[in-house]
Amino acid sequence: MGKVSEPIALTRENRNQYFRLERLTEGAPLGAFECRTAEYTDYLREDALRAQTDHVALTWLLREEANGVIAAYMSLIADAVKLSTAEKELHRLNYPFKTIPAMKIGKLAVCEVFRQKYRGVGTYLIYLASHIARNFNNDYCAARFLTVDADVEHDEGVLAFYQKNGFASNAELTGKHRKTISMRLDLYI
Ligand SMILES: CC(C)(COP(=O)(O)OP(=O)(O)OC[C@H]1O[C@@H](n2cnc3c(N)ncnc32)[C@H](O)[C@@H]1OP(=O)(O)O)[C@@H](O)C(=O)NCCC(=O)NCCS
Repeated sequence: MGKVSEPIALTRENRNQYFRLERLTEGAPLGAFECRTAEYTDYLREDALRAQTDHVALTWLLREEANGVIAAYMSLIADAVKLSTAEKELHRLNYPFKTIPAMKIGKLAVCEVFRQKYRGVGTYLIYLASHIARNFNNDYCAARFLTVDADVEHDEGVLAFYQKNGFASNAELTGKHRKTISMRLDLYI
């Protein structure tokens, strides 16, 4: 039997060399992308382009540099998050209003083959989303937080994945029996 090779651990130093990020475009080859949750595989194949054309979600593809195969994707959308008084204090946001601008990860998924080949692809995508949001802040429009509705219905483990990447649950939309958990990452503290 062939030896199963160890996954490559992605680090801040090495990860740029393995991948390139590009926008989803009409006719872009999607290859055999398949992730753990069928809904996210289907979204990329069936809905992502229409959502982008309609300006409701903009999709980024992470392709492996060596051969152009899609390792992961994410869809980004504009958002706003409602914070409690305690949460505003935590983020040193002393304003009379509750709603703070944000950029949301509407969808994020890593191809299963690439989850086995590399460790840290999902984390790298979060880093890239933060980078895009910071550029957005610098040049166009304010977005203090990166947000996500962690889809715990399909996989409870995604909560730990986002927590490990620095996200905290939002008080406003956190409760029992929810299919998703509303979370935020402060881009500046
Ligand atoms: C969730 C997903 C994006 C994670 O991608 P990934 O490339 O495996 O994540 P990483 O390798 O960067 O993981 C970072 C850390 O989170 C942990 N983690 C990742 N996915 C996890 C899961 N499903 N359950 C528990 N822990 C998880 C990893 O073990 C790792 O922990 P460590 O740093 O202590 O080793 C991927 O499993 C996926 O595409 N799932 C299907 C689609 C989906 O559910 N997307 C999220 C919708 S909100």
